[in-house]
Amino acid sequence: MTAMDEHLLEVDDLRVEFGRGRGTASVLNGVSCHVDEGETLAVLGESGSGKSVTAQTIMGILDTPPGRITGGAVRFRGEELLGADEERRRLLRGESMAMIFQDALSALNPVYSVGFQIAEQFRFRRGMSRRDAMVRAAEMLDLVRIPNAKQRVKEYPHQFSGGMRQRAMIAMALALDPELLIADEPATALDVTVQAQIMELLDELRRERGTGLVLITHDLGVVAEVADRIAVMYAGRIVEHADAATLYARPGHPYTRGLMDSVPRVDDAGVGGAGAVLRPIPGLPPSLSAIPHGCPFHPRCAYAQDVCTDEVPPLREVGAPDHRAACHFAEQFVAEGPDRPATQDVVSG
Ligand SMILES: Nc1ncnc2c1ncn2[C@@H]1O[C@H](COP(=O)(O)OP(=O)(O)OP(=O)(O)O)[C@@H](O)[C@H]1O
Ligand SMILES: [Mg+2]
Repeated sequence: MTAMDEHLLEVDDLRVEFGRGRGTASVLNGVSCHVDEGETLAVLGESGSGKSVTAQTIMGILDTPPGRITGGAVRFRGEELLGADEERRRLLRGESMAMIFQDALSALNPVYSVGFQIAEQFRFRRGMSRRDAMVRAAEMLDLVRIPNAKQRVKEYPHQFSGGMRQRAMIAMALALDPELLIADEPATALDVTVQAQIMELLDELRRERGTGLVLITHDLGVVAEVADRIAVMYAGRIVEHADAATLYARPGHPYTRGLMDSVPRVDDAGVGGAGAVLRPIPGLPPSLSAIPHGCPFHPRCAYAQDVCTDEVPPLREVGAPDHRAACHFAEQFVAEGPDRPATQDVVSG
């Protein structure tokens, strides 16, 4: 691969396990994806599908043990990170790649002012004086649209609302101007209006700064507006990948369709989809220490046939460029679009 077609971030066939022996949980089973500068990849999936473990492995903060990377590669601008020494990883964290966590309150230290905590990075990694670093911290709060940033920079986390704390976390992550930002459910704990504001902010900052953004969520509704491409995870695999428009118009995996049915859609009945019928996906994700034979989704799939219990469907191209799905019947689903009848007849014969 030449420098020209090198991705900002490339994850290739990543495998992670937890535990040993019979209790071994295969948490990541060959995850591949990439992100380029200035684009947003949304990673979507139910609780336990491996989204955070993927993020932690990319950032080099996976707990090992109990976690174990058993295969694959993570490349940042072509540089392999999985074998890199901890000093190199530490340098890259913050400077080149940064992560925002779900729970801003527990990520902030209650005994220091918000500004002090942002300023630390400028002091320790840019060698700035305390005073200059605080000025930069206030600029960062202003960047993430916190009103009265000059005053508020001196306040403590408990004086910030949930939305403002999450903005402060974004400011902290962006302080050293990383090229890649991974946001792991950055707004899950917040109410819907604030969630939308946080998404909008991340989207604006991405555009202004050209940051590559990985947006992790279990809520398709949240990322609909901002994602360029979407990767859908199930049981530690990416089961579908497409640009956002293609994924909505022609989902190729029944699981993706299930996720779409379980959130209100704007076009159902005005904003918020007040008239929409929400259908949660029946059943639960599999135990990762006993992933079903064949397609891991088959026990929950209304369309499952014999082949689905026998053979693992590979992730493969299913029509549009870059549209990949891991379902034996993906071509049929793609051809039918999202409004096919929810019966098993569709795929018989
Ligand atoms: N430190 C750990 N020790 C053991 N198992 C772990 C550990 N961290 C994660 N796992 C397991 O790995 C699997 C994937 O977890 P992960 O946190 O990546 O899920 P997720 O997709 O981020 O879910 P959520 O939407 O709830 O955040 C889960 O089954 C989880 O129990
Ligand atoms: Mg998670």
